Amino acid sequence: MSNYNRRRFLKAGGALLAAGTLPISLVELAFGKERKQNFTFAYVSDSHITHVRGNQFVRNWDRGLIRAVAETNLLDPKPDFIFYGGDIAQLGKPEEIDHGLEILSGLHGDVHYVMGEHDYYLDLGEHWRKRLGPDHYSFNHKGVHFVVLNSILTFDDWMYDKWSSGEERMGQMARLDNPQGSPFMVGEQQRAWLKKDLDAVSKDTPVVVFSHSPLQKIYQGWNFWTDDAEQVQALLKPFDKVTVLYGHVHQIQYNQIDNISFHAAMATAWPWPYPSSYRQQAAHVPKLTVDMNRADPFFERDATGWQFINLDTGNVDVSYVLPDNSNRVVAWSDAAGHPVDTRYQAEADRIPPQTHY
Ligand SMILES: [Fe+2]
Ligand SMILES: [Fe+2]
Repeated sequence: MSNYNRRRFLKAGGALLAAGTLPISLVELAFGKERKQNFTFAYVSDSHITHVRGNQFVRNWDRGLIRAVAETNLLDPKPDFIFYGGDIAQLGKPEEIDHGLEILSGLHGDVHYVMGEHDYYLDLGEHWRKRLGPDHYSFNHKGVHFVVLNSILTFDDWMYDKWSSGEERMGQMARLDNPQGSPFMVGEQQRAWLKKDLDAVSKDTPVVVFSHSPLQKIYQGWNFWTDDAEQVQALLKPFDKVTVLYGHVHQIQYNQIDNISFHAAMATAWPWPYPSSYRQQAAHVPKLTVDMNRADPFFERDATGWQFINLDTGNVDVSYVLPDNSNRVVAWSDAAGHPVDTRYQAEADRIPPQTHY
């Protein structure tokens, strides 16, 4: 990031920080100074709008999304577009999707959406697609190839044959540690589409992939997991610069697998606990190669805030702005060969939970 841009971001960040808790992510992509292609987009995710009865919705989740919309509209510089990372709804009800989209319609600018499992498993995405169109597509913007995938599909028999109603199916998929659950996957059809889509893209074009679930295997019990992640990663392998941005996990998460950098978005609804609290589980596959520190798992807004990303060198540096903590910078380390948290990565430097404030 140039000093000029960094100053502009810090200025914008200061103004927004003063506005309160920030459940949004601001992303800057800057691929090579000579191209003069720097641009930003905002990332809002996981609102889980929950219908109670009649015209009543769970207020906290409404407020999180309303605030994200208001603060996104205040961003300076204005983002080129907004990305929504999935889980508009809690139980996939048309009322929830419609109410969420009504709030999101206040955004100034184009919005791209990815399908979340909470948007999908009641009616297998029918209402979402009716409102928003295809669930996988690609587009180019200022020299970057963006791909949107529906990563929350699962086995046909689980989707079509196992349950007596859509409500039952949605309820099963919404549970954590559910032995009746089923892993997410992109699926053969979309992988074939992705291969064809990427065949037409030159290998030095930066590629940014949006998914809802991580396109890596982190924790199967909570479906922080995509079953065919390795096959999708293999399709992305020929490219010089690949970043996968995902929602679903409601927390800051970063990782490096071969040429692919991974970054999660924060939720506007609630944070999930961080990996340190589930990494010892038997189901954890040690694919999460970068250890992380959580500020405070009991602070309800801990996983909210925003981030901006600099891809100036082809490696991703991220500055996370948290509401009540100092900024955290995650920067590429040549020595480590993956992103590191510049302040907290060393075990001895970590701040124990509850002593942050
Ligand atoms: Fe979610
Ligand atoms: Fe999700």
